[in-house]
Amino acid sequence: MKIAIINGPNLNLLGKREPTIYGNQSFEDYMDILTAKFPAIHFEYFQSNIEGELVNAIQQFGFSFDGIVLNPAAYTHTSVAIGDAIAAVNAPVVEVHISNVHAREDFRKLSYVSGVVDGSITGLGLMGYELAVNWLLNQQK
Ligand code: DQA
Repeated sequence: MKIAIINGPNLNLLGKREPTIYGNQSFEDYMDILTAKFPAIHFEYFQSNIEGELVNAIQQFGFSFDGIVLNPAAYTHTSVAIGDAIAAVNAPVVEVHISNVHAREDFRKLSYVSGVVDGSITGLGLMGYELAVNWLLNQQK
């Protein structure tokens, strides 16, 4: 099974960025833990601060992988292009947000992604990625 983890802008700063909201762990450290938990899964991790690169990654993995775990970060709230890319691909997509976007500023309540993904996990910290992987794994059985 092949799963792509795609992170949007500023998530390369996890561990340094607003730790009271996003925690102290870098995503690279978290990826080591995640991959160790699922030795049978082939993971690809992609992060970009650039909207078009995220669209390219969704297109690239969305026709050849068994699932995508996507945190579009701030583009969640602005990007029609990312929403369209998710709708276009075959792979199931799970949206993850580390923080509870519904409990924050009003602009974070708008999502161009939630309506086109298979499901969303928000506010459960980095564990949201693991929960998303488990759900995708379950779809294979
Ligand atoms: C985020 C929430 C977004 O509103 C924010 O812009 C992010 C991270 C999260 O994981 O909680 O960059 O997607």
